[in-house]
Amino acid sequence: MCGIVGAIANRDVVPLLVEGLKRLEYRGYDSAGIAVLSGEAVRRVRRTGRVAEMEAAALAEGLDARLGIGHTRWATHGGVTESNAHPHISHGELALVHNGIIENHEAQRQRLEALGYEFTSQTDTEVVAHLIHHHRAQGGSLLSALQAAVKELHGAYALAVIDKRDPTTLVAARMGCPLLLGLGEGENFVASDVSAIVSATRRVIFLEEGDTAELTIDGVHVFDADDAPVAREVHVSDVSLASLELGPYRHFMQKEIHEQPRAIGDTVEGIVDAGGFDAGLFGKEAASVLADVESVQILACGTSYYAGLTARYWIEALAGIPCAVDIASEYRYRKVVGNPKQLIVTISQSGETLDTMEALKYAKAQGQDKTLSICNVPESAIPRASRLVFLTRAGAEIGVASTKAFTTQLVALFALAVTLGKLRGQLDEAREGELLEALRHLPGSVQHALNLEPQVAAWASSFAPRQHALFLGRGTHYPIALEGALKLKEISYIHAEGYPAGELKHGPLALVDTQMPVVVIAPNDALLEKVKSNIQEVRARGGEMFVFADADSSFSESEGVHVIRTPRHVGILSPIVHAIPVQMLAYHTALARGTDVDKPRNLAKSVTVE
Ligand code: AGP
Repeated sequence: MCGIVGAIANRDVVPLLVEGLKRLEYRGYDSAGIAVLSGEAVRRVRRTGRVAEMEAAALAEGLDARLGIGHTRWATHGGVTESNAHPHISHGELALVHNGIIENHEAQRQRLEALGYEFTSQTDTEVVAHLIHHHRAQGGSLLSALQAAVKELHGAYALAVIDKRDPTTLVAARMGCPLLLGLGEGENFVASDVSAIVSATRRVIFLEEGDTAELTIDGVHVFDADDAPVAREVHVSDVSLASLELGPYRHFMQKEIHEQPRAIGDTVEGIVDAGGFDAGLFGKEAASVLADVESVQILACGTSYYAGLTARYWIEALAGIPCAVDIASEYRYRKVVGNPKQLIVTISQSGETLDTMEALKYAKAQGQDKTLSICNVPESAIPRASRLVFLTRAGAEIGVASTKAFTTQLVALFALAVTLGKLRGQLDEAREGELLEALRHLPGSVQHALNLEPQVAAWASSFAPRQHALFLGRGTHYPIALEGALKLKEISYIHAEGYPAGELKHGPLALVDTQMPVVVIAPNDALLEKVKSNIQEVRARGGEMFVFADADSSFSESEGVHVIRTPRHVGILSPIVHAIPVQMLAYHTALARGTDVDKPRNLAKSVTVE
């Protein structure tokens, strides 16, 4: 949450900062701001709303500078106002941007007020600006002031700081929030993620927890948590500019929905290239870590949690191992019974979701060190804290609503289920071959589902005026019902709930009337006849049904029952194919309602706060 970019260069950094903030806007879009060193002065432009509004103001001010920092905010402490927007300035000299939460900000605020500092915002961040300023006033460099200040902070932060008394330096610090340095020719950068600087450089250093850094035009110096100089590895990012741009699409969500055959194909290719369902898929240590696994505990949030719920069916069916799935923010606060032979699987698109990270740390603290992360962002915090890693190959996902990350997570989890099954002798070679073949055909089946878009779009007009919707599914399609409901509420603001279809008569049936559209995911699997009975229960109460079936489910349209058929039933991988129409339904409903599809209100793409 919140995006940071900073630059020191031999050219005007203002366009670099603005472009970087536009690419980071997915991390928060309540307000945006930049501060630059222009001549002898720190000049700042902040605006509530989108980066484009701030950009227009910066252009009007004619800012031109060689050193500057920028920020896009997702509000935590203090409302969405210009005075709470970053950068924050201390004494007109030092400007700072911050991502994270400073837990001891109140105590520090009192202390700094007693020292004569005046606060102009309600943020926890302003404390840090004044605290660094205070240490600077004791003598020493901007870097040493930053290093002294961060030792007095509790909480999570990524920081970038400039000071007019030190016009050749940009300093940065990281604890609990991602921050990287970008290495250019005669210019260097700091950013929350590589997308912000990729048009300038691909050479990056990922700061470690507790690191601070000093950037000049000529180079960067990194220091560890004890302030000792340290050499960190330089990575060359393979993020492509095309993956960060809309191309012919209207929204990133639309683009990402349509990228799924490619994203799934690339992820499957990684499995095939590694020789199929082999422990090596999950890392060098995997054979020994997975060998004696007795049970699986999945931890995740939001859509990633629903991927975990789907995986439970696969893991129990294919590997014969008990599998529990918990919402990370619940798991981390309950007393769990640690089992060193339990595999802890975290699922996260971003790899930086705070609750998932904390749940992982908590599991490890219970003596559970068999940890596997399924993640889409290499070098992010959660995979780095895990012994085993499977990187999905979805490519950058920018729309706040997760789509291709979800379906590629499902592919990874399916591979895990089969691999565990194989290691436990539950699957013979023939069955393993069939399952690999099924994966190989998946991109094609997903493409067929995408071809249903005009039919799904036609349904959206029925949903757009509604206040509520129900999504029903059974078995592996129950989590897809949950995901369909989450997608719809997230981007169209229609209240939607997902239910196991069999649970309907235990409560939610009371909601059903002619105004309640009910979406049913009803492929031709073992539960089809049961789902059909559930549909009758809804129809008898006047509810209008929107059924996603497949070519093999014997369904016919009738009064109040609309049916869209995905192509032939794809067996065990059917939930992946059925994720596509529910994504498209949410997208087209949101379009019809005119909401901001890629940046829905109050949300952000990566949730690095509790
Ligand atoms: C999905 O559309 C959401 N925006 C959200 O639920 C997301 O899946 C959740 O915040 C978890 O994020 P992660 O996968 O990056 O950990």
